[in-house]
Amino acid sequence: MDRRRFLKYASVGAIAGVATGYCLRDVADRCASIQIPTIATTTTQTVTETTTEPLSCSASLRAAADVRGLLLGAAVAPEYLHDARYANTLAREFNFLTPENAMKWGPVHPAPDRWYFDPADEIAKFASDHQMKVKGHAVIWDKMQMPSWVTSQMSTDELRRVMQEHIHTLVGRYRGRVYAWDVVNEAVDDAGGFRKGLFFEKLGEGYVAEAFQLVHEADPDALLFYNDYNAEATTGWRKDKCDRVYVLVKKLLANGVPIHGVGLQMHISATDYPKPVDVAANIRRLAALGLKVNISEMDVQIKDVPGELPKRLEVQRQVYHDLIAVCIKEQGFIAVTFWGFTDAHSWIDEWFGQDDPLLFDENYQPKPAYWGVMNALVGR
Ligand code: XIL
Repeated sequence: MDRRRFLKYASVGAIAGVATGYCLRDVADRCASIQIPTIATTTTQTVTETTTEPLSCSASLRAAADVRGLLLGAAVAPEYLHDARYANTLAREFNFLTPENAMKWGPVHPAPDRWYFDPADEIAKFASDHQMKVKGHAVIWDKMQMPSWVTSQMSTDELRRVMQEHIHTLVGRYRGRVYAWDVVNEAVDDAGGFRKGLFFEKLGEGYVAEAFQLVHEADPDALLFYNDYNAEATTGWRKDKCDRVYVLVKKLLANGVPIHGVGLQMHISATDYPKPVDVAANIRRLAALGLKVNISEMDVQIKDVPGELPKRLEVQRQVYHDLIAVCIKEQGFIAVTFWGFTDAHSWIDEWFGQDDPLLFDENYQPKPAYWGVMNALVGR
């Protein structure tokens, strides 16, 4: 990146930082070869150059992730792609996209003979136009967003036939364009065993293996993930569910099922989250099975953090930083996806009440959390 562009960018970061009560230290810290003299604490601070060393810092999270060979993604809703701020930020900062809802069964296949591919196609095209990879989400997730035509009134054979047809059509359409799929989402119950959903009730626990097999047939080159929440850490935080997910994927592998990895959703609050060291231990034991691991839906709620907004944003920055810094060092860890990127559009507001869980504020300005992730990516 040329020096002028960096300094312009740093100034933008400073202004955004001041606006959120944050400072330039992260911008300066992340680049050992540039010295930005004093930490800006007022809007009158100007950034002056003090070095002629070549710059080694990153223009964007995407650039920093590319250097590491890491996929850095965001969940996307196609209706916002027409907002230039949304589209430009997305293309600049990420190299990986996940349709937030557009590939789920209900939205994409609302009636037995009706498919609605336009939103998913739009995301796939955006990704291809901007050299980004796509993770398809979520092929089988019977907890929500299933259409009413897939019901427990169906016979076992009928449900199996419908599942085969759905998977072959959906995954077949995006063959070669989707890098990885979340094949089965949230199959493990919070209380123990399998969640008692439609597929489990009708097909038994074998539905998980069947789904992986069908997706593999439809696209033999795609990476196939099992995805779940509260399965992030080996000790303490929701340990039991984490263990059950581990047992499930180990068994799938032992049975020759084509599964390639596990997604840790990482929907957390800054007052309630797993210890980074325990997440690292989980990644390590999954990688020891030969599996890849990704953080698949990260967001960090802050509404329960005590204090004024700047304090809460600082706590959020630290949580993002500490978790990502540890995970990306692990072998087999390939991607971090955030469940959105701007606080203007987050499912958290809708489902859990107004919050600011993501990396950019509602005006698409980078928050402290952004710099926390940036620092983690550049190893600081
Ligand atoms: C959420 C979407 O963000 C919402 O828009 C939708 O109303 C419900 O689903 N775990 C998942 C995601 O795997 O698919 C969910 O996405 C969030 C929780």
